Amino acid sequence: MSRASTGPDTRRSEVVYARAAGLMPGGVNSPVRAMRSIGRDHPIFVERGEGFELIDVDGHRYVDWVCSWGPLILGHAHPDVVEAVTDAAERGTSYGAPTEGEVELAAEVCDRFASVEMVRMTSSGTEAAMSAVRLARAVTERDAILKFAGAYHGHVDGLLAEAGSGLATAGIPASPGVTTAQAADTTVVPWNELDALEAALAEREFAAILAEPLPANMGLVPPEPGFLERVRELATETGALLVLDEVISGFRVARGGAQELLGVRADLTVMGKVIGGGLPAAAYGGSRAVMSRIAPAGDVYQAGTLSGNPLAVAAGLATLGNLDSEAYRRLKSLTDQLATGLRGAAEGLPVSVVSINGLVTPFFSEEPPSDFAAAGACDLDAYGRFARALLDRGIYPPASQFEAWFVSLAHDEAAIERTCDAAAEAFAEALG
Ligand SMILES: Cc1ncc(COP(=O)(O)O)c(C=O)c1O
Repeated sequence: MSRASTGPDTRRSEVVYARAAGLMPGGVNSPVRAMRSIGRDHPIFVERGEGFELIDVDGHRYVDWVCSWGPLILGHAHPDVVEAVTDAAERGTSYGAPTEGEVELAAEVCDRFASVEMVRMTSSGTEAAMSAVRLARAVTERDAILKFAGAYHGHVDGLLAEAGSGLATAGIPASPGVTTAQAADTTVVPWNELDALEAALAEREFAAILAEPLPANMGLVPPEPGFLERVRELATETGALLVLDEVISGFRVARGGAQELLGVRADLTVMGKVIGGGLPAAAYGGSRAVMSRIAPAGDVYQAGTLSGNPLAVAAGLATLGNLDSEAYRRLKSLTDQLATGLRGAAEGLPVSVVSINGLVTPFFSEEPPSDFAAAGACDLDAYGRFARALLDRGIYPPASQFEAWFVSLAHDEAAIERTCDAAAEAFAEALG
């Protein structure tokens, strides 16, 4: 087996990074890719992907548990996706005019999500979340938004707010450049804490309660039994729209996303990742009545030059076309095997492995965290050592304790065995 390392045999990655660092902030186009949070001094530059494997510019092969952070539920370069995109490209890459493919994709989305009757496509999950919030504000004629600590909804200014002290606080900007006014419209409460939620709802009228139904941006931290159901009730009781961000969970944890798996219905659903099959596509949707407020049917403006791009639509349709009930059974089985294998590899060590169909997180804590504060209290340095040790052994994990591992249908039992064998050594190295 070829082995990657932080040493001289990633020379080409180092050379490319040296150049990249002078041309792009941090040498990357999205921060987590820099691998700084696991203590590496340069990222691994990718040459290509094949099925469950990534191949870097130095020729090393890795079992890929990132899968582009979620879109690649079929793995890299799936033949159906490649064929669909190639065929679409031959007919033109963008028209700025509607196509039949968009209608087909909208129909597929509405068929999968019981709460969605109409969809609007965007190019990124950030845009889709931003637009859903705008729509919720227009519908409710309210400004404030409630979100949960540790949930990520893209880098929209008003959603880059984080909790200060106290149970529920008006958001403070989480990044320079986010104005106090933008953050002040966002209230952040801890996930899985009903008292804090109820206190926040008693204090302010919200346009939307915005939640990842299966939060996966603090590692995977599912709702405790009854929590999401109560969030749904409270949204209805207080006149807020429930906006469920299924950018990760949608099309992954079940055919109809977390809403199907958990039996909770959103007023607005935000989708991304899998819907574009590895090309830039995302969407938001809801009832016909609410979605009819979007221009040009209604008065809420939202647009995009590349929205519903024909290549992205082709990739999305080809991907969803492979996601039938057998595919979801297999994805669940692979996920269970990976989670069980990682638990075995970490036996006796202070590690807890959380999983749900298509998503896994090994937390460096005795108990699985129930909120962002607990996730933050994990041994992050140990995760960094673990991730580096895995990379050295040809396994490519997310470069952060706060990201989920993405299982794809391209992974197989051999990939899982390879991973768990390496993980046994990596856990020991990280915690030894
Ligand atoms: C739950 C969730 N919502 C929204 C986004 C933003 O999507 P994008 O990166 O496509 O803008 C992400 C990205 O990871 C996400 O995980």
